[in-house]
Amino acid sequence: MIEDYKIETQCVHVGHKPDSATNSRAVPIHRTSSFVFNDTEHAANLFSLKEFGNIYTRVMNPTHDILEQRMAAVEGGAAALAVASGTAAVFNTIVNICSQGEEIISANNLYGGSYTMFDSILPQFGIKVKLVDPRDSNNFDVAVSEKTRAIFVETIGNPVLEFTDISAVAKIAQKHNIPLIVDGTFTTPFLLKTIDFGADIVINSLTKWIGGHGTGLGGIVVDAGKFNWQDPKFKLFNEPDPSYHDIRYAHDLGDLNPVAFIMRLRLVPLRNLGACISPDNAWMFLQGLETLPLRMERHSENAFAVANHLKDHSKVDWVRYPGLNDDPACPVANKYLTKGFGGMVVFGIKGGYETGKKFVNSLNLFSHLANVGDAKSLVLHPSSTSHSQLSEEQQLSSGLTPDLVRLSVGIEHIDDIISDLEHAFALI
Ligand SMILES: Cc1ncc(COP(=O)(O)O)c(C=O)c1O
Repeated sequence: MIEDYKIETQCVHVGHKPDSATNSRAVPIHRTSSFVFNDTEHAANLFSLKEFGNIYTRVMNPTHDILEQRMAAVEGGAAALAVASGTAAVFNTIVNICSQGEEIISANNLYGGSYTMFDSILPQFGIKVKLVDPRDSNNFDVAVSEKTRAIFVETIGNPVLEFTDISAVAKIAQKHNIPLIVDGTFTTPFLLKTIDFGADIVINSLTKWIGGHGTGLGGIVVDAGKFNWQDPKFKLFNEPDPSYHDIRYAHDLGDLNPVAFIMRLRLVPLRNLGACISPDNAWMFLQGLETLPLRMERHSENAFAVANHLKDHSKVDWVRYPGLNDDPACPVANKYLTKGFGGMVVFGIKGGYETGKKFVNSLNLFSHLANVGDAKSLVLHPSSTSHSQLSEEQQLSSGLTPDLVRLSVGIEHIDDIISDLEHAFALI
């Protein structure tokens, strides 16, 4: 079975065989908005879920389907749904679980966009988010109340690269019968399959290492298929949905009940809020997936070398990289990561905020932009850019200091990467 292959093989093959109509070896891009019904009965069956099939590309498309099958396989999950961006993946996941008056508990060291969504947008819909320091997993336990419907963490937190003890947090989620949602963007399924450590739902921004070339936006949600959504406290899964044939998603899906989470995600938030991926982008992410293992090995190798180079540098105050022996995140990261520690390195530049900006301006090979996970090396000074909308207090509470420079180390030759850094250090 192709599902039993190693991840390197799954990344290239799952979900697609040359089709008998065309013998096309590469995955075709199904660039169509809609699909013809065989007859009126077929149409009625599709709409009433008696039959599962393509109706409209906002909800389902054969190119998306291959990406979804492949991502579910590489994460070790049961089903997946691709959406327009990592941000849409996070938002749709939360509103698929919580309604007004309910709450989630989240780690506070998040990607800036997720932080803003949790801190200011979700409360406008009556969904409260309690932000806790994830370095002590007991903080999650203490924060749980009878209104809590999920716990949310990132594997490697942005921007300070702390590493979350996934199994410890998963145990707390299990104890309270709430799902653990993990954003695994910074590790990708190649470095870490969080489902093996207790994640119930895994989110990836496809925009980053999975796409791998900075060419488009996408996100994916993978459902481990293990969580019991029949607990009545999950109203959205247990009460009849008047907008969809009074279906109770945790009960009425027959064979698909184990993947009720992804089914509801597709039929309710995706269908009605509309944040769908495009067939072209789905195809592009399939291209990226094929080389993900090779690239992650090189990203990790290069980033480790950069972290070691910066460690004793006269112009650097501190370095964070989960692979460095003396990094505070190393003991936890070592429990989970066996193939590499990822492509991100952050460091504190001597001279602080202004020197940080000057350093960024002096780099040539590194591109100064607000993305990570490109084959090309990237640099950002978060406190003056991506996190500048947060107050100084909020920045400091998630560990972001004004001297912090963030590197997304690419797959170029390591000598050229180091020499570009040295060139910029010489100019500050
Ligand atoms: C960890 C993490 N999750 C989610 C996102 C959002 O992804 P997207 O930019 O695809 O919306 C980002 C973006 O940087 C991220 O770093």
